[in-house]
Amino acid sequence: MNWDDAPADTPDRLVGSAADREDQAVEAALRPKELDEFIGQERVRQQLDLVLKAARQRNATADHVLLSGAPGLGKTTLSMIIAAEMSAPIRITSGPAIQHAGDLAAILSSLTEGEVLFLDEIHRMSRPAEEMLYMAMEDFRVDVIVGKGPGATAIPLELPPFTLVGATTRAGLLPPPLRDRFGFTGHMEFYAPAELERVIHRSAGLLDVRIDADGAAEIAGRSRGTPRIANRLLRRVRDYAQVRADGVITREIAASALEVYEVDARGLDRLDRAVLHALLKLFGGGPVGLSTLAVAVGEERETVEEVAEPFLVREGLLARTPRGRVATPAAWSHLGLVPPPQAGGTSPGGSGQTGLFGT
Ligand SMILES: Nc1ncnc2c1ncn2[C@@H]1O[C@H](COP(=O)(O)OP(=O)(O)OP(=O)(O)O)[C@@H](O)[C@H]1O
Ligand SMILES: [Mg+2]
Repeated sequence: MNWDDAPADTPDRLVGSAADREDQAVEAALRPKELDEFIGQERVRQQLDLVLKAARQRNATADHVLLSGAPGLGKTTLSMIIAAEMSAPIRITSGPAIQHAGDLAAILSSLTEGEVLFLDEIHRMSRPAEEMLYMAMEDFRVDVIVGKGPGATAIPLELPPFTLVGATTRAGLLPPPLRDRFGFTGHMEFYAPAELERVIHRSAGLLDVRIDADGAAEIAGRSRGTPRIANRLLRRVRDYAQVRADGVITREIAASALEVYEVDARGLDRLDRAVLHALLKLFGGGPVGLSTLAVAVGEERETVEEVAEPFLVREGLLARTPRGRVATPAAWSHLGLVPPPQAGGTSPGGSGQTGLFGT
C-alpha cells in the first residue's frame, strides 16, 4: 500500500501507524471476524450494528458505508466484518489502483448482487472515476463511454445492488458530493488504554503468548491509542520475553523490552524525544521556528513536522503557534526537566524572548 499523501512515517519506525511488511503478514490472523469481537469504537459499532441488522431484516443490501480515521484503527477490519455480517463476498481495491474510469467500470460491472466493494483510500481516486462512482452509488448504473471524440456514445449499464465501503484517513479531502452519497459514516477514534489492553490480551491469546494484566497495561500505555501499534509492540515484547526471560510478559518485562526498543512510557520514540529535548534544552521551550528545530535534531523539516509533531501535539506536549513551536508544561515534566521561570510560552502575552537567547 502506498501512503505518500498520508502522514509520513519512517518505514522502520516501531511506533509508526502505517502497516509495515510484517504487520501485513500477521494482521490477517489478528483481525476480529465479527462485530461482537471488534473491541472499542462503541458508537460506530452500535450504529453499524443497526444498519446491518435492519438491512438483513429487510433482506436488502446494506447502505453504503464510509469509514474514516487514522491508520491502524480498524477500517479494513471493519469493512471485512461488514461483508461477513451480511454473508456477502467482498471485493477489495483502492483509490490509487483506480486510475481510469474504465478500471472502475470493469470492477463495478463484475459485482454480484449484495457484494461488498471495499475501496480503501477512497480520497485518492481520479476525478473521472469519482464521477462514475456517484452514479453507481446512487442509481446502480454506469455509463460506459465507447469511442472517442464526436462519435463517442454512452452506453448505460445496469448494476446489481451492492454495498460500497469506503475507507479514508483524510475525510476532509473527500468532495462533498461523494461524502453525501454514503448512508452511514463511521468516524474511528483513537482507543482508550483499557480498550488496547483488551486488544493485547486477545492478540496474545491468538499468538499463544502468555501475558499478565500489568504487562498488557504497560504495552497499552505505549501504543498511541492504535491497535496496530499495540499488536506490533506485543510482538517485540514477546521476542524479549522469550530470549531474556521465561516467556511470560509482566510489567517489568514489557517495560525493559520497550526500553531496549526506545519506546518510552508514553509511546514516544527516539525521534519524538529528540525533538522535545532540543525544544526544551536548546531553545528553553520555544517559541522556535520549525526549520531551526529540524536543524537542531539533524532531521528534515518534513520529518519533524509530519512524523514527530502530530503525536506530540495530540499528547499535549507541543503546540504550534504563529511564533513557532512551543513546549507545554507537560513536556518539561515528561522529560524530567524543570521549566525556567516564565518558560513554555503558555502565557499568550509572554515576552517571547525565552528562546535561544533567553535568560
Ligand atoms: N477494534 C479492534 N479490535 C481488535 N483488533 C483490532 C481492532 N482494530 C484494529 N485491530 C487490529 O489492528 C490491525 C490494523 O487494523 P486495520 O488494518 O483494520 O486498520 P486500518 O484502519 O485499515 O489501517 P490503514 O489506515 O493503515 O489501512 C488489525 O490487524 C487488527 O488486528
Ligand atoms: Mg486499512
